[in-house]
Amino acid sequence: MDEFTFFNPVRLFCGTGAFAGLGEHAAEHGSRALLVTGRGSARKTGLLDRAVALLEGAGLHVTVFDRVPPNPTATVVDAGAAVVRDGGCEVIVAVGGGSAMDAAKAIAVCAGHSAPVLDFLRAEDKRLPTDATLPIICATTTSGTSSELTRFAVVTVEDLTQKSAIASDFIYPRVAIVDPELTVTCPPGVTANVGIDVLAHAIEGFFSTAASPVTDACAERAMSLVAQHLPKAVADGGDLDARAGMSLANVFAGFELSNCGATVLHGLEHPISAHYPEVAHGAGLATLMVAYAERYWDRDPYRFGRIAKALGRWVAGAPLEHSAEFAADAIRALLARVGLDIGLEDIGVERDMLETIADDTLSYMRGALDKTPVELSRDDLIELLEASYSRS
Ligand SMILES: [Fe+2]
Repeated sequence: MDEFTFFNPVRLFCGTGAFAGLGEHAAEHGSRALLVTGRGSARKTGLLDRAVALLEGAGLHVTVFDRVPPNPTATVVDAGAAVVRDGGCEVIVAVGGGSAMDAAKAIAVCAGHSAPVLDFLRAEDKRLPTDATLPIICATTTSGTSSELTRFAVVTVEDLTQKSAIASDFIYPRVAIVDPELTVTCPPGVTANVGIDVLAHAIEGFFSTAASPVTDACAERAMSLVAQHLPKAVADGGDLDARAGMSLANVFAGFELSNCGATVLHGLEHPISAHYPEVAHGAGLATLMVAYAERYWDRDPYRFGRIAKALGRWVAGAPLEHSAEFAADAIRALLARVGLDIGLEDIGVERDMLETIADDTLSYMRGALDKTPVELSRDDLIELLEASYSRS
């Protein structure tokens, strides 16, 4: 057996009703909390009021920061850190989706080090977070980006048109709350997008050069849970069984992502949504997955056969390698069931931007390419983008 390591320090509270413990968990890490959330849905659904009540009920003083947009920006992160400093907050609590959680993690770094977020994002002379990072508690309202279980915080740097990430063990949340009841108000389009993000984390980590037997088990479970539950969760948001299935998929993919990181699909998608900030992360990933599987399944037929099987499309009784070429079809069928069998043109990407996207991937998403098992040249990336352009 090849040597491998696995690490994840997050204390996970998962299951229906887990959100009730929010105040008690936060109180273990401070008496003044910054509550980070998005710009509307948590307030609209009453979840923000409930979070404030739970935190105050546990004796915390709460400052609300509800200015996080989708794809959080460096400006918003620095504004949040200033609120932390002014309010003397000791613990950062995120209640929301990936954007709120990533913003909270970046705010915890900046406030703890009294430094702007750019110090931790720039390509050269990058500062690394230390244990001065404030403690973070995450309760996710989507299934999901798995940010509640990872060492990553993705932040858009407006001036550079770049989406960069802080990657550090110091930004693992102390506590992750994954309560499927929090996801029932997630609209169908968002449910589909974030569910496909889970699928991408599962697939990319599965063929990553960083994969291990532990992450493989997480990946296969996550893929089959997504195939089984995502279409139902999109069709009926109130289906708590489907929501619970997707919550679990998110957890398995999160443990995998935190150890494997992402590969080429995320490597291409981050530049896409940096240039087109209105593009949802999952939709961007959806445009790329089929072309990658179509082109590269034969580089690792056993793994792509396992992907096909996890998605319910395999030749029973035959060696798994015989099903490898069906992986692309299985992914495409699942995307179609949730309304995301789409190409780059459908999300508004202009054809003359494909070379720029490939160049950006090569310049600042190297880490993702390095974990991709296939060596991909600039021409290969452009060809992949071309093949992902149109579904017709
Ligand atoms: Fe992702």
